[in-house]
Amino acid sequence: MFITLEGIEGSGKTTQIDRIVKLLNQKEIPHLTTREPGGTPIGAKIRSILLDPENRDLVPVTELMLYAADRAQHLETCVKPALDAGKTVICDRYYDATTVYQGFARGLDLNLIAQLHSLCCKNLMPDITFLLDLPPEIGLKRAWKQIDNGNRSASETRFEKETLTFHRKVREGYLQLAQNEPERFFVIDAAQKARHVSEKVIETLSLML
Ligand code: TMP
Repeated sequence: MFITLEGIEGSGKTTQIDRIVKLLNQKEIPHLTTREPGGTPIGAKIRSILLDPENRDLVPVTELMLYAADRAQHLETCVKPALDAGKTVICDRYYDATTVYQGFARGLDLNLIAQLHSLCCKNLMPDITFLLDLPPEIGLKRAWKQIDNGNRSASETRFEKETLTFHRKVREGYLQLAQNEPERFFVIDAAQKARHVSEKVIETLSLML
């Protein structure tokens, strides 16, 4: 099973992934947790370029290609081998993030993004996607608190520094994707306390395992 988590900055994906891992451990289900960008050694180098706030002049097409390169490497060397070995893969962000950030928010052609997905990933899609939804005002406040606390790296803040309008487009884009594919997406109100979000995630996932 291929599970992905999506959401704007500060939506609490990491906390929910930890909770999913606890459930899989309890049920003795073999699994792998990973993330995009940066789920492989080469991807970690690509991630540092993509998220470095100094890289203000990264043009949208370069950004798109770097996410696609990270994903191609990640799928071939990490995700597919794990799925082939019968493991459940839990991935922090995947292709939907490209559709939303580079497509809806940056304005790149959605057909071009879909073509890249077909080229890089043979259209592999998750079985289930949790969309942790909340207003960007709340998400960004949380994200900056973590950065200020030192719980998130200040060297990875290129997207946190984007405008509120950009983050609103991201949120709306995700909600639109969820509306288009209601059988794959589970939208959870992530403005509530983390433990309430976990209850919903675990309840949904338990029915599928
Ligand atoms: P995160 O690891 O904290 O989620 O940060 C990854 C950032 O990269 C986040 O701001 C979303 C962005 N992103 C894209 O713009 N496109 C993508 O395809 C992916 C996977 C992430």
